[in-house]
Formats: sequence, C-alpha cells, structure tokens
Amino acid sequence: MRSFEALEPLYPTTQDLHRAALRHIPRFVAAYIDGGSGADAAAARNRHAFDRVTLVPRYGRGGVVPSLETVLFGQAYTAPFGVAPMGLGALVRPRLEERLARAAQAAKIPYVLSAAASADIETVARLAPDVFWFQLFGLPRDDHRVTLDLVRRADIAGARVLVLTVDTPVQARRPKDIRNRLATAGFERRPAILADILCRPSWAAEMLRHGRPGCEIFRRYLPKGASAADLTAFARAEIEGGFTWDFVRRIRDVWPRALVVKGVLHGRDAIEAIGAGADGIIVSNHGGRTFDAAPPSLDCLPEIAAACDGKAAVMLDSGLRGGLDIARALASGAATTFLGRPFLHAAAAIGEEGGDYLIRLLQTELRHSMIQLGTSTIEELASVERGRAYQA
Ligand SMILES: Cc1cc2nc3c(=O)[nH]c(=O)nc-3n(C[C@H](O)[C@H](O)[C@H](O)COP(=O)(O)O)c2cc1C
Repeated sequence: MRSFEALEPLYPTTQDLHRAALRHIPRFVAAYIDGGSGADAAAARNRHAFDRVTLVPRYGRGGVVPSLETVLFGQAYTAPFGVAPMGLGALVRPRLEERLARAAQAAKIPYVLSAAASADIETVARLAPDVFWFQLFGLPRDDHRVTLDLVRRADIAGARVLVLTVDTPVQARRPKDIRNRLATAGFERRPAILADILCRPSWAAEMLRHGRPGCEIFRRYLPKGASAADLTAFARAEIEGGFTWDFVRRIRDVWPRALVVKGVLHGRDAIEAIGAGADGIIVSNHGGRTFDAAPPSLDCLPEIAAACDGKAAVMLDSGLRGGLDIARALASGAATTFLGRPFLHAAAAIGEEGGDYLIRLLQTELRHSMIQLGTSTIEELASVERGRAYQA
C-alpha cells in the first residue's frame, strides 16, 4: 500500500485524481460518472456556486489545532464529510463499493450505500459496521413491496441511517448514457463501445475477470440466474414513480433509527420532510444528474436551513471538490457534507487505496482551511464570515 506522502505529489487535488481516472476508465464510463442531465448545466452551476463563495481569513490567534470531529444523530464521526450513494460503482473498478466502505470504516466517516449499487446490503454492512448508511429510492410497484423489504434488510443489517432519495420521481435523462445505451442489455456488443474498451486494457482485463456489474441488491427479487442487464432493467422499472410524503411517513413508522431525506431543494419540501418524520435533510441536486434546471444545492442551503429551524440536521452535497469546499459548505450552514464523483475518480485513478487517499486529502485540505480561518472546531466554521462582494 502506497503512503499518503507518496501519492500526494501525484494527486495534490481532486482535479488531478479526475484527470488520472480518465486514463483508466473508458469514455462511456466517464460519461456515466461525470455526465449530468440535459446539457450538463446544473452540474456546471454546482461548481460555479462554490467558486463564488469567499471566506474571510482570521489571523493572530496562534496555535490553532483543528478538530474535525462531527456528531450526527448522536454518533461521532471523524470528519464532516461522507461518501455519497452511487449506483453501479463496479463499472469503475470491481468491488468498488466494498473498497470505499472499508476506507470509510477505517476513517470513521459515513458511507452511504446506494440501492442501485453493485454490491449487496449485507456484504457492505459487514465491512462498515460503524458507518453504514443505506439509501433507498421510492419503488412504488406492488404497494412498495420491494421498498419495504429493503427497509427491513437495512434494519437487520444494522444501517445507522436510512436515506430516502426523493429527487428521482422519473428516470433521469442523461443524453450520453442514452447514446451509449448504458441502460439496455448488450452495450458491450456495440462497435463504438468495444473500441472504447479496447483503448483501456487494464479496465477491460478487470471487467473480463469480474463480469459486467448489475444492481446486486435486487437479485433476490428476480428468478435465479438473472443477468447484470436483467438486474439493471428491474431496478429502472421499479424506480419509476418515486416517494410521496405519505409513504415517507409509512417508512418512518417501521424504521427505528435516523431517517434522512435526500434531494431537497425547496424550503417547503424540507418542512414536508420533517412533518413526515425526517431527522435530517440532504440538500442536493444529485450532482446535476436528475434535472438540468435545478439550482445549485449550495444556493438553496440558507433557505432550507432557515425552514428546518434546528428541527433536522441539514446536510449538503453536489459539486464539492475539496476540503475548502467542505469549509465553504459548513460556513454556509451545512452540518456535514457528502462527495460523490471524487470518490469514483480516486478509486479509478489509484485503485485499492483510492478511497483512503481521498479521505486523507480532504482532511488535510480542510484542516489547512480551518487554520487560515482561525477555527478549531467544525461548529466554529458556521460563524466564519463570508466575503461581502460575493455574498449570495
Ligand atoms: C455515478 C453516480 C451514481 C449516482 N447514483 C446515485 C444513487 O443511486 N442514489 C442517489 O441518491 N444518488 C446517486 N448519485 C448522486 C450522489 O449521491 C450525489 O448526490 C452526487 O454525486 C453529489 O454530487 P458530486 O458528484 O458533484 O459530489 C449518483 C452520482 C453519481 C456520480
């Protein structure tokens, strides 16, 4: 295992990890990870929103030793960020979810397993017993038969937090994935994709060894011997329809631990979520992947924090690309943050220890920002002054 010190000169920023990732994965996988819905405008705005936030440094306080400890739903984590839920991670590297879950467990930061992941709930829960969260889409067919079974399985597996993603009432339209026929069976047989794969021999060799990934969590709901394509098709058909607040209430009645609603961008929806029993809100536009006119989640944060009025933990994702962005999010009112794509880029670029490296990098960058800001705790970041010229 290479040390942080050996890797840092190669990948001093998440942008370096992204560039290196593109050398490992085929173009159609890069399109799946990095693509947004429509013209990628929402994804671009997410980035822009962070760049606009300036924070006024404070000096002369001497000897600031920042602690990153973050308490969420009564549990202490070592940093104010976690791994966001992401479907079909094994398209990047085999056993991607298992690798990232292990890294999160070692670092004691939240790991959110997606319902559309390429690893099973029970496997990942065993690898990350202290930090395992489970994310669920609304799967309304047959009176939510599968949704309720997944809630039961997440409970038995010991998930600390259940995350309900509400921003996918309809399948996202991502033009690049449609063009690449990613959702349909047999994309490997298209000449353009084959040529793409042949240009990435190490990725191709890994995939040949492990096979095409599918949404493994759904395997037990399909007949024996279902293919990866069958699993993905089943997941897509089930996801159509999303959550209603009434159904969130129904889940609240059976879920014993913290309940979080992800994908909220409107203050009134945050109030609905709390009314339905949510303990936390993740302000998110899904990294710009579901609706191209969605505003940046960072811009929605103040309104939602005000609407929640301390009744729920307000968290944020979409567009964070480093420790400084985590500081910006916390200074804007978030209790913690999640990152998505950077974890996939790190795993693609580095392999086995990619997640561990990114966690160390984010911690290092965040500590550096906190010393500049003269803050020694995560709570103090909430009262950092934002630069006047750029205030939203
Ligand atoms: C490849 C990929 C797959 C994703 N799959 C899911 C998913 O299954 N469920 C979900 O709630 N969010 C999903 N997301 C959204 C992330 O949880 C998160 O909201 C988003 O990635 C944050 O933006 P960022 O990538 O800019 O950090 C996915 C994101 C990516 C990049």
